[in-house]
Amino acid sequence: MSAIDPHLPELPSSVELGIGQGGLAVARVFARTGTAEIYLRGAHVSAWEPTDGSPVIWMSEQSEYAPGVPLRGGVPVCFPWFAAHPTDATAPSHGFARLADWHLAEARDAGDDVVLVFVLTDTEATRASAWPHPFEARYTVTVGAELSLALQVTNTGSLTVGFEEALHTYLAVADIRQTEVTGLEGAPFTDRLTGPRPAETTPVRFDAETDRIYLNSTAATTVTDAATGRRITVTKQGSASTVVWNPWIDKAAAMADFGDTEYTGMVCVETCNIRDNAVTLTPGASHEMSVRYSVA
Ligand code: BG6
Repeated sequence: MSAIDPHLPELPSSVELGIGQGGLAVARVFARTGTAEIYLRGAHVSAWEPTDGSPVIWMSEQSEYAPGVPLRGGVPVCFPWFAAHPTDATAPSHGFARLADWHLAEARDAGDDVVLVFVLTDTEATRASAWPHPFEARYTVTVGAELSLALQVTNTGSLTVGFEEALHTYLAVADIRQTEVTGLEGAPFTDRLTGPRPAETTPVRFDAETDRIYLNSTAATTVTDAATGRRITVTKQGSASTVVWNPWIDKAAAMADFGDTEYTGMVCVETCNIRDNAVTLTPGASHEMSVRYSVA
């Protein structure tokens, strides 16, 4: 494929570019210590599995793979706004980045890991969107025994700009009812269903729809899945907000691209800069938000 696209980099033998579901281009990564799959549409990590483990990233069996529709599961890159756009009801949920075709700019081995860099810059379509600013986003995905994701955004324009961003990771669990998220104790949050809530002293546990925004929260979190004993630790940098989401029964049933009972097998722990933690960049300035997932 690199022979027919002069803009694609030389690929190491650990990276194969092919056609995935819905005819979308996908990079399949075979590092010594782990494998992954990344759709170029959205630079969307749809799978990651350490060699000695089991799949860590969850994808819905009902996900659509079609133009203009985001994938359901994996790691949607939400940028330059989070959730609904505040003033433009026609703008897509979670921004345009997860619907855009990213350019695979670099792929290389790095010891036991494999590193891929995806780039998205402003286009005529983004300049006509609810966020019309010049930018360059570089997204570095490092695949191995751990998965590391780093989203660097540069303001390439001449005005100061603000944006929100999220790495909206869907983590696989065996049973959400036996899952807990630790690390957010002591942090107040906004329950998107009921409003501001004081800090709790216990881990987040799930027995109903859960949609929480923790602002000013830089803590690492751990997802413990008692059904398997697996612990996924989420360590982040350059991120001041965390979102925890599980749609539970009614919302899962209402989503066309989400199986009715699939909510039992996932939890989103999202690494973000949103709301009061939105990023402001002066002309020429860059900001990086990164996250690392490790499994025990
Ligand atoms: C979460 C939000 O980040 O994303 C939820 O907190 C939302 O409110 C969820 O439902 C999924 O969003 P979307 O746009 O992918 O359906």
